[in-house]
Amino acid sequence: MASVPSLAATVNQRVADALSAALPEAGAADPLLRRSDRADFQANGMLALAKKLKGNPRELAGKVVAGIPTGAAGDVIKEIEVSGPGFLNITVSDEAIVRTLAARAEDDRLGVPYADKPGTTVIDYAQPNVAKEMHVGHLRSAVIGAAMVEILEFTGEKVVRRHHIGDWGTQFGMLIQYLIEHPHELDHKSEDEVSGEEAMSNLNRLYKASRALFDSDEEFKTRARARVVDLQAGDEETLALWRRFVDESKIYFYSVFDKLDMEIRDPDIVGESGYNDMLEETCRLLEESGVAVRSEGALCVFFDDIKGPDDKPVPLIVQKSDGGYGYAATDLSAIRDRVQNLGADTLMYVVDARQSLHFKMVFETARRAGWLNEDVKAVHLAFGTVLGKDGKPFKTREGETVRLADLLNEAVERATAVVREKGEKIGLSEQEITGNGVQVGIGAVKYADLSTAAARDYKFDLDQMVSLNGDTSVYIQYAYARTRSIFRLAGSAAPKAHPELALAPAERALGLHIDQFGETVTEVAASYEPHKLAAYLYQLASLFTTFYEQCPVLKAEGGQEQIENRLFLCEVTARTLHRGMALLGIRTPERL
Ligand code: ARG
Repeated sequence: MASVPSLAATVNQRVADALSAALPEAGAADPLLRRSDRADFQANGMLALAKKLKGNPRELAGKVVAGIPTGAAGDVIKEIEVSGPGFLNITVSDEAIVRTLAARAEDDRLGVPYADKPGTTVIDYAQPNVAKEMHVGHLRSAVIGAAMVEILEFTGEKVVRRHHIGDWGTQFGMLIQYLIEHPHELDHKSEDEVSGEEAMSNLNRLYKASRALFDSDEEFKTRARARVVDLQAGDEETLALWRRFVDESKIYFYSVFDKLDMEIRDPDIVGESGYNDMLEETCRLLEESGVAVRSEGALCVFFDDIKGPDDKPVPLIVQKSDGGYGYAATDLSAIRDRVQNLGADTLMYVVDARQSLHFKMVFETARRAGWLNEDVKAVHLAFGTVLGKDGKPFKTREGETVRLADLLNEAVERATAVVREKGEKIGLSEQEITGNGVQVGIGAVKYADLSTAAARDYKFDLDQMVSLNGDTSVYIQYAYARTRSIFRLAGSAAPKAHPELALAPAERALGLHIDQFGETVTEVAASYEPHKLAAYLYQLASLFTTFYEQCPVLKAEGGQEQIENRLFLCEVTARTLHRGMALLGIRTPERL
């Protein structure tokens, strides 16, 4: 289906045309159209333009108005007038609003356009570390990354997902050596019998025990270090044991992602180890091209503008003096792979803001090496810290980092209590209450994360997150469920657009907002700002609530046609809410 131009786009075009007719020397000037409370839209572009051309803005605005047909049947613009120093106040016709929504309703995508030139984006997100617990810090990368995947795919972009898990490094020497000396520690009856929590507790136990030995027993320490060398040399027995750690961890990761209602696919998990074979070559290429130089035995890249506290340059170390490769070498190799093998033109990293310097240096190095160029851009979609109610990084009362699984369980528990209260009144079964509790609880956590600009820190406050009032996912989910309940009560009445009907103010406001969905998605996809989609959906739910309070649907005083038209508005609202929430990874229960 064809995309549907929004009324804003149509009006903007009309004004732009009239503007260039009135003032040919202005060229293609932007009318600067905005939504407004005085009329439907306001165009401010005449002011700056008249000023620039030393003309009178009101006079120019008057000429533009004279060039725009209004008021006749079929005209999108019903009224346009000059106001103040030279703005235009523009009102569109009720008919145009209903017609544009009817065109959207025809289309499965609600008339949302595909991107003009879709490309290939590799999104690096949801990257926990093997043999380590997932904590609240891993939440944001997963949630924001998954939303960006959905949003970009919806615009037609080809998206390749990469979960750059921490599955390599010196700590594996210690773990593997311990397992060799205590061979039955990771045994269990059969793969599917272990739950994620059990897998994690096995790993935790092993980690603690091997750490204790490593710290107290010099000989074990030596054996553990030798094991790292074996691992890096690709020794089969060592690799096999390493794989057991990775597999055991994956059981755990999947259980947490499952709880998060997030689909993670095995082939997309390409951890640090996945670039092992490239590390040597990456270093050689950097050294040969002079991008990296040897300094005190290490292979380093220096930057003019990156200095430490003592004003000494801080290098990016690609290879340590003992020959070991670290985080940077892996990331540089991953860039080569993603650009050269996966064909990416955008590399996106959804990673904590505290890694900004790392990415800045890695990107700059890759640019110098020619792996990134004008055709490929790299973006660090940096996110802030999750804070506790006290405004400090979120910790348990004992001062430990909060386990993600515990946090999600608690959210579901709280949400279930909220859902139960209302659910019992409307006769929901126990099964429905529990099911909704999960969708509301997980939705609440995701929404709280997504509704704040990524770069900002936010406070993790479950009471606020599951509140029925205010900017929460439950509020939006309720609006959706309300549309469903109207349909259940509608009996034989079916939604049907009636463009000939006059609209009430709340209907117009709702309709105009629904019409902006495509533009919102396009903007969010281009700026990587999912919080703007969250804000759009919250506003949509609020406008629907006002509509619901002011405009009876099934008891509409205007008779059958108005009932149908209002049902139609409910339907496009519902579809827009549902689609928008799905882009954020949030479910919309049918009955709440
Ligand atoms: N595993 C890392 C961590 O937990 C995040 C990896 C981010 N991605 C990357 N390509 N460096 O901090």
